[in-house]
Amino acid sequence: MNLLNLIQRSSVPEPWSEGDKIPWDEPDFSHRMLRVHLSQDHDWASRRVSKIDAQIAWITQNLLPQPSKILDLGCGPGLYCTRLASQGHTCTGIDFSPASIAYAREQSSPRCTYHQADVRQADFGSGYDMVMFIFGEFNVFRPEDGARILRKAAAALHPGGHLLLEVSTFEAVRRQSLPSTSWYSTPNGLFSERPHLCLEERFWHPERHVTTERYLIIDAQTSEVTRYAASTQAYSQDDYRALLESCGFQEVIFWEHFGAEALTPESGLQAITAALR
Ligand SMILES: C[S@@+](CC[C@H](N)C(=O)[O-])C[C@H]1O[C@@H](n2cnc3c(N)ncnc32)[C@H](O)[C@@H]1O
Repeated sequence: MNLLNLIQRSSVPEPWSEGDKIPWDEPDFSHRMLRVHLSQDHDWASRRVSKIDAQIAWITQNLLPQPSKILDLGCGPGLYCTRLASQGHTCTGIDFSPASIAYAREQSSPRCTYHQADVRQADFGSGYDMVMFIFGEFNVFRPEDGARILRKAAAALHPGGHLLLEVSTFEAVRRQSLPSTSWYSTPNGLFSERPHLCLEERFWHPERHVTTERYLIIDAQTSEVTRYAASTQAYSQDDYRALLESCGFQEVIFWEHFGAEALTPESGLQAITAALR
């Protein structure tokens, strides 16, 4: 894209029409994102290790009474798999970020297996005691993809096995659309190693309950514009319950805490567990 294309862009993008999500799976982007995952200064792509440790203790106490077989969808750099494996569990992680999967494999945890694959197409295998899909990524999938992933998760569990799903609340997704525009300049950043401007636009689609974010990256030297977009589906608690039940789950529980973190309007993330019928 060039600057003229930017000026002539559509005023309101259709959800998911300008891209599925930020490019986690592009090699260079994934290396830059890996630094964000591992940073102990914030909880952007992964939480800091003190919070992860508290969540591992919570998972072990509430969902895994004995050594278990676990599938972690969107496992990132394997920060959960590595810790669960060190407690005697056997873990499979799936993620399409090449840098994250390379990092996870480097940790050479004997009971961990990692697959670099897109969870929409990947074969999940079977016989798991728990499938986890955490940190809000579920909402970034189109609803039909989200439902298909949950049905595959159900098929991968043995009867009585558990799903741990951590999602964004309806209000948090709605709030993500504000402010409607913002921008920053940087000598290098997540979207490019080169000096650039990032112009951001955010849209709330009230009929579809979707927030769409558009990122326009303008290279400072060439003025070339690269566009990324991500859309996030909002679900109410009733929507989540109905969706999970339609995918074969029961005993749906909405938790007020996940590890040391409480569900608050600010956090906007909610842990849900459900058992396979
Ligand atoms: C917010 S991060 C969370 C990572 C990890 N669960 C954690 O909490 O540390 C979301 C992860 O989902 C992965 N992801 C997003 N879309 C994916 C897809 N379609 N297939 C596989 N992985 C995906 C990203 O690469 C990223 O590692």
